[in-house]
Amino acid sequence: MENKTFKIRPYARLLTMLGEQLIKNEQIALAELIKNSYDADANWVKVSFVDFGDKMEIANNSKIIIEDNGCGMSLETIEKSWMNPATPNKKVGKGEEKRTLAKNRVIQGEKGIGRFAILKLGRTITITTRLKDSNKEYVIDYDLSSYDDDFLTVAGQEKELYIDDIAINVYSQQPTQIIDREVIVNSQKYPENNHNGTKIEISNLKGEWSKRKIEDVNKESQKLQSIFDKIFEKQSNDNFEIGFEVNNERISVSDKTIEKLSNLFQNNAVLKVTNGKYKEKTDLNFF
Ligand SMILES: Nc1ncnc2c1ncn2[C@@H]1O[C@H](COP(=O)(O)OP(=O)(O)OP(=O)(O)O)[C@@H](O)[C@H]1O
Ligand SMILES: [Mg+2]
Repeated sequence: MENKTFKIRPYARLLTMLGEQLIKNEQIALAELIKNSYDADANWVKVSFVDFGDKMEIANNSKIIIEDNGCGMSLETIEKSWMNPATPNKKVGKGEEKRTLAKNRVIQGEKGIGRFAILKLGRTITITTRLKDSNKEYVIDYDLSSYDDDFLTVAGQEKELYIDDIAINVYSQQPTQIIDREVIVNSQKYPENNHNGTKIEISNLKGEWSKRKIEDVNKESQKLQSIFDKIFEKQSNDNFEIGFEVNNERISVSDKTIEKLSNLFQNNAVLKVTNGKYKEKTDLNFF
């Protein structure tokens, strides 16, 4: 009788399953990264398509950069959350729902695999991240371009690759990327609080892009934004601005829901109060 205990050791190809197979298309992949910026309590996230062709053709040096001013990641978060698939989410705020610490937002992440969506977008990835008040930033570098799409070969040579064979380099440096600077997202100026956050640069890009697809990403991400802030054009503390740029030019994405709602409020409101007062917990009382 033989009796042996085995450990489950996933093949590196599991990354392909998580990233590419599970994520339907490039738009959903990008929306996953935007959701992560929201969960990190960012005020803004900027998605830049750099060195693309006139019709958004991908060239050898094209890049997609996703930048936010969220909470950033500590070395521990990088090691425990970023590296390992299916990270259990421990951030629990007050109440039943899982909420973010700083802004009490309802946390969108649940599965702990959203970041693998990056693999749908490209194979060479550099992440720079900095915590609030930290005097250093961490850089996570991984170039998966020597593997084929299914992680079955390295530089064209067949190899039995397990997930723990994929080594990822992390180092710290004096901040050079996440530094105090004025950031403009959708013509709104964000002059402050830009010394913490996360910047994800993806090159060796895959798939195809178009303005239409950017519109899709925006549509998918709109549910994260406060409709009221949009309608009243106010910049509240919980503002979450999502901006897109292609070759340094701002892409204005149409905001049909907001337009429609705004019109409804302006033209079809049953009751309109100007300079009114409203006391909570008493009956409606405008004077
Ligand atoms: N932009 C970011 N800023 C700060 N931390 C981030 C950012 N993106 C990812 N992280 C960290 O990495 C973790 C993993 O992200 P990932 O999207 O893979 O999983 P999730 O958001 O927890 O769940 P889901 O798979 O449902 O999106 C997050 O929980 C967070 O700790
Ligand atoms: Mg997520």
